[in-house]
Order: sequence, then C-alpha cells, then structure tokens
Amino acid sequence: MKDVVLAKFAEVFGDNEGAKAYFAPGRVNLIGEHTDYNGGHVFPCALTIGTYGVARKRNDKKLRFYSMNFDNLGVIESSIENLKAEKEAGWTNYPKGVMWAFGEKGYEIPCGMDLLLNGNIPNGSGLSSSASVEVLTGFILKDFFGFDVTNQDLALIGQFSENNFNGVNCGIMDQFAIAMGKKDHAIFLDTADLSFDYAPIKLENAKIVIACSNKKRGLGDSKYNERRSECETALEEIKQVVGINTLGDLTEEQFETYKAAVKDEVRQRRAKHAVYENQRTVKAVEALKANDVEQFGKLMNASHVSLRDDYEVTGIELDTLVEEAWKVEGVIGSRMTGAGFGGCTVSIVKTDAIDGFIDKVGSAYKEKIGYAADFYVVEIGDGPVVL
Ligand code: GLA
Repeated sequence: MKDVVLAKFAEVFGDNEGAKAYFAPGRVNLIGEHTDYNGGHVFPCALTIGTYGVARKRNDKKLRFYSMNFDNLGVIESSIENLKAEKEAGWTNYPKGVMWAFGEKGYEIPCGMDLLLNGNIPNGSGLSSSASVEVLTGFILKDFFGFDVTNQDLALIGQFSENNFNGVNCGIMDQFAIAMGKKDHAIFLDTADLSFDYAPIKLENAKIVIACSNKKRGLGDSKYNERRSECETALEEIKQVVGINTLGDLTEEQFETYKAAVKDEVRQRRAKHAVYENQRTVKAVEALKANDVEQFGKLMNASHVSLRDDYEVTGIELDTLVEEAWKVEGVIGSRMTGAGFGGCTVSIVKTDAIDGFIDKVGSAYKEKIGYAADFYVVEIGDGPVVL
C-alpha cells in the first residue's frame, strides 16, 4: 500500500520528493458501548486496517488535501491560517480540526502541507475512520514539527478537535484505541481517569468477524448527542440522592436503589444501560483473563440486548445481523459495535464456522433488508506508524 499511496501522491501533486508515508489503524470495540462519556470502562482494539497517508511540508501556508476514497472531490485547498469547519470541506474538516486543535493547545504549525489519504476501513461504518484520520494527522504533525506530545496526547487532541471543531460530542474511546493500539491486545480503559491495561486476545480456534450493515450513518446526524445529554440529565437527577461523579461509579445494585430519582422512564433506561454495560465490561475482561471465552461471548450478547432495548441505538439492520448471527452454530458472541444506528457488528466466530456464518447471515440480511452486508475477518494491530 505504501507504494500505491506514494505513486498517487506524485500523480496528484506533481512528484513525491520529500514526502513521507504513514499509517493509523481503525478500531473495533469488543464490549463497553456508550460508556466512555459516562465515566465507564471500554474494551476496544486497533485493527490492521486503517488509513494510509502521505504528507509533505510546503513553503507557504497552503493546505492541499486529496483522498483516494473520494476521488471525485479532487484536490481540496485550504490554508493553515484561520482554520474553520465548513460543510463543503467534507472529510478535510477532520485533518483541519486536528491542526486547529494543536494551535489551541499552543503548538504553532509553521507551514502548510500537501496530504493524501487512502483508507481501507469502510467509510462511516462505525470502525472509526474519522478518529483514524485525526490520529494520523496528529502523528504527522508531531513527526514534522517535533511537538512534544505522547500518543495519549494525540488521542486527547483528536477528541478535542472532534468535539470542538466538528461538533460531535464523542468520548475518548476511538482516538485512544487508535493512538494506543497494540498488536493482538485489546485495551481495557477506564474512561474516568484514563488508566488502562492491555489484555492479550488469544482466541484459540476463533476469530473476530466484522459485519458491515452498509447502512450509512454519521455521528453528527445520529441521535448520539441526544443519548449523551439524556445520560447527563439522569446523572444530575441521581446526584440529588447519592454522591457520585459519573454513572460509571454505580454498581447494578446501587442503580436499582437510586433509579427512582430519574423521573422519566426513557431516561431511566438510558442510565440503566450505562451502569449495567460498564459492569458487564468489567466482568467480560475478568472472563477473558480466566480464559472463559464462552462467558465473554454471552456478555457481548447481553450488551447488544441492552443497546437494543434500553439504549435504543441499534435499528433493524444491526438487529438482523446480530440476531441471525446468534442462530449460527460456532458463534461465541455477537453485538453491534460503535455508536450504532447503522455501521457494524462484531462477532467472535469459531474459525471453522466462519464461511457458514458469512453465508447464512449474509443471505438472511439481504433477504430482509434488501441490500448486502460486507464481512471482514480482522486482526488486531498496532497504533500509528511511519511506513
Ligand atoms: C462512538 C464515539 C465513542 C463512543 C462510541 C459508543 O464511536 O466516538 O466515543 O461513545 O460511539 O460507545
């Protein structure tokens, strides 16, 4: 892929002398959904698919962007000065947002650059193509200008840019999973204080399979921000009766004791999901440590049920993929992953059952939804690298 992106850079920008190639992964979350903005735990991992980029400094303040995923858009120009999000700038709002965020944090970017990207994560699929672009951009800026930032800082700067430049109130999970990725490990992250552990994922005779619903979604136009504010309101109500900082502070029993403080039935279910999902994530990681993959899979299934019934972020496409997966022999666990409302599911499937899984779930999905899903057998990879 390095040769492909370097050659395309030369084609688009005249030559590739002095240009450098980079890669940042996408991510999949194994369990712990919609917990990261509730002070809970998440358990994502970086993938070996992601975003390839080639960048070169310029002698002026211009920015020129080109994405091989949006060839039809051609070269999009901007300037490092007066960066602001613009609807017509499309995907370039992500790298621009990170450049802006560095400025806000006191790191001056002295010149413009030419940047070409090529992602092999399906766009808008819930595998964090946008966070991948954000971390990649931060990694390039660090490499170009020697900014004194850690990979964890890159995650925080990426999230800051997404929140404040792109107007999506996302949590820290995606950027953290990407910036801190480690081959064959998932990251058990406590979003309350960013303490984390790497947990080896040793799936004997099984693999992680992602099913992409091909129902497009964007966080901005989804109900993501609405869910977030429902949880914030529920937290304020519970705080009237018990001293907590986040919903992640509560056990299931404590939630049952205090839940009546949440005056609205829908909001109560949202908060229930946040509390129970956090506890499920802790239990799932314990199960994995005890080599109990079956139990891990059951908790994945329970996570989906909660996201479907209490949090209501699934929809017919994701429910069909998951409910069909549950019927297949050799499926250890299956759930939606990411924000929901479309995007992907993640399943752990016994290796010898994968072909049958893709066949059965794929045809049931097509029959019910009317268009096909795509399937990816994925590997867990490292964080961003210079190629
Ligand atoms: C999106 C957000 C994350 C997280 C998930 C849901 O991927 O970017 O911060 O909230 O949704 O778990």
